[in-house]
Amino acid sequence: MKITAINGSPNIKDSLSGRIIGQIEKLLGVKTEARHAIKLINSTAKEDAFALLDADVLLIVFPLYVDSFPMPLIEVLTRLKEAAKGAASKPRVYAIVNCGLYEQEQTALVLNMARHFAEESGLPWGYGLGIGHGGMLSSFGDDWSKGPASVVYKALSEMAGAIHGGSSGPDVFAAPAFPRFLYNLAANWGFRSMAKKNGVLKTIRARPYARKEAAK
Ligand SMILES: Cc1cc2nc3c(=O)[nH]c(=O)nc-3n(C[C@H](O)[C@H](O)[C@H](O)COP(=O)(O)O)c2cc1C
Repeated sequence: MKITAINGSPNIKDSLSGRIIGQIEKLLGVKTEARHAIKLINSTAKEDAFALLDADVLLIVFPLYVDSFPMPLIEVLTRLKEAAKGAASKPRVYAIVNCGLYEQEQTALVLNMARHFAEESGLPWGYGLGIGHGGMLSSFGDDWSKGPASVVYKALSEMAGAIHGGSSGPDVFAAPAFPRFLYNLAANWGFRSMAKKNGVLKTIRARPYARKEAAK
């Protein structure tokens, strides 16, 4: 089975999307050909898009950006849609999105967009997996099969089974088992540390674009 994975994270070096691809690759027992969207858009070769379609499965893994796809991925999907018109190979599309907010349901809309992309391109749609509080997953080691990450591991394992079976289904949502208030505490601490490091902690509550009358 040939699987092409597209990593939609603009963060090339160390992304959660990359780690998710690593996890599902192990579960699939098949080496995927993972490509970074941001590198693909710097290639002007149209053949690239055709090459990506030359597979049994197209696995799109990305972070949620403003309730949508990151820009480089939008460009890749646009090119793929064009290339799919003339391509003999029609890989089944599966999508995995992770988001920073606590609720995994935040990813429902972008998974609809991914399904529309498949439909508009004439490619069979598998299903999507939306993962909540992604920031939490980043803090775990490589073994996600135990502990709080095991919920996500199970969902990935089920998707690996669906990929092997070529099956479709409704979208699935999962997140590490971790209390919301602790996640929010950790996230706020992280944002404050980042603000301090960048010298903007004192102005963290500034609202430069707030309308004067609204501020009264
Ligand atoms: C520009 C930008 C926009 C984002 N928009 C959202 C968003 O709309 N909702 C959300 O839950 N997280 C949002 N996030 C958080 C990312 O989805 C989150 O950090 C994710 O885990 C990053 O995954 P990656 O390491 O694979 O890039 C955003 C992050 C950035 C940098």
